Amino acid sequence: MICLVLTGSTIEENVSQFERNREYVDLVELRIDLLHESSRVRAALFPSLVDVPVIVTIRRQSDGGRYAGPERSRLALLESILDGDFAYVDIEYDVKRSIAEQKARGKGIRIIRSTHDFNGLPDDIFHRISKIAAKGDIPKLAVTPNSIIDLITLFRVRTELKGVDEKIVLGMGDFGLPSRILYKRMGSLWTYCSEIPIAPGQITARQMKTLYHADRVDDRTHIYGVIGNPVLHSFSPRIQNPGFRGINFNAIYLPFPVDSVRSFFILAEMLHISGFSVTVPHKQAVLPYLGKITREVKQIGSCNTVVRSKNLWVGMNTDYYGFVEPLVTEIDAKKIQSALVIGAGGAARAVVWALRNHGCKVTIVNRNVDRAKHLAMETMASYDSLDNANEYYKVDLVVQTTSVGMVPDVDGDPIPEYPFNRNQVVYELVYRPKYTRMMQRALEAGCRLHFGIDMLVRQGKHQFEAFTGYHYPKRLEHNLELEED
Ligand code: ATR
Repeated sequence: MICLVLTGSTIEENVSQFERNREYVDLVELRIDLLHESSRVRAALFPSLVDVPVIVTIRRQSDGGRYAGPERSRLALLESILDGDFAYVDIEYDVKRSIAEQKARGKGIRIIRSTHDFNGLPDDIFHRISKIAAKGDIPKLAVTPNSIIDLITLFRVRTELKGVDEKIVLGMGDFGLPSRILYKRMGSLWTYCSEIPIAPGQITARQMKTLYHADRVDDRTHIYGVIGNPVLHSFSPRIQNPGFRGINFNAIYLPFPVDSVRSFFILAEMLHISGFSVTVPHKQAVLPYLGKITREVKQIGSCNTVVRSKNLWVGMNTDYYGFVEPLVTEIDAKKIQSALVIGAGGAARAVVWALRNHGCKVTIVNRNVDRAKHLAMETMASYDSLDNANEYYKVDLVVQTTSVGMVPDVDGDPIPEYPFNRNQVVYELVYRPKYTRMMQRALEAGCRLHFGIDMLVRQGKHQFEAFTGYHYPKRLEHNLELEED
């Protein structure tokens, strides 16, 4: 189930919030501490205004809420609000026998015993859950994993506490996000979402339902993801999840913020993860864990796609194919024979190897000439200083691989004086903005352009093929272009 935490300050606002999210949620939590004083007294009415079960909660400041009054008043307020037809009441773990609790029990309102840790994981995490469950209440544990190792502990809840059917477990913060999305894999009754995220790491109910379909995860769902740091704003879930649904594949793709690649491989085995994308800064760090790698991974020394195959982790690099695909016809027709590559970093490695493997003559220019030289020696290319880029005005193709020109520094141009001509093909790897300064100049000069955003989508489609064995559904490609900004 997906629970919407209502964040409005009036009853009316909360009803509208619920109505806007009606199609995504199964129950709601009314947070009395977020309501104006004047609305609090009317809160008992709320369950009669919505057609889903309601949890009532008055969260204290010490537990991340806004209620600042004395404890006695808080519990008295809760007791009076329980006149309403609530399905659940959230009472904190440390609150000893109260009148609110008695009233809830008398009325058959289920008690959720919540405990929060905004800094880490409590040492007695499993014990605490089973102790609460033994009393017949529903334990709720909202904790903060600070690493993948902590996340592994959290996911162990499922096996350690197999006997506890009813529990709510969630990890807050960036590292906790996978536990919110894969709540069913932890044996958690529901996950919390809100329209405007109010707790660290919360996502919207719409995303939870329509992007991840988190409520449809079952024991047969194949888990895929993207690892990186940071990774929460990755575009890839928006490529892969709709694709999975497009071919009726019971699978989910989610972001995993990863601090240690080594720990992630332990989590991956534990959750039976079927494959994952790899982004900055882990593209090299995954290599020692791979049982098999493809030729381009060996050449480039970096891997952006890992799939589980016959008990081996197999590494590929779809950036390579996403980059070179739109050029192959012209290279084969000898329309592109020479290229100038700007930059000599990780992205340039894939570009230079792809062009060299296809028989293109390449000159690498870079601010740090030694770095250009190093890559040039490896790939049998030429190199020069970035300052001399203008001398290579006769090449058929110019590829820009540095971060210069990317938001927020949109005025940046690594080759501001370069004399583009209309016979050239220009390929920009930066995808935000779509038209960088350099691309605007290339457009004005009449060059043919290839955009970073298209490369991103193409490499994602190759990943989809590696994950599923199927082509990306053609009818969904249109959506990917629309999602660009
Ligand atoms: P990536 O994996 O995105 O390629 P990287 O390996 O850090 O990232 O490489 C960054 C590239 O952008 C390098 O070629 C870098 O040039 P240096 O090797 O001289 O550092 C280039 N780069 C970054 N900022 C730059 C700038 N302001 N001007 C010119 N080149 C720049």
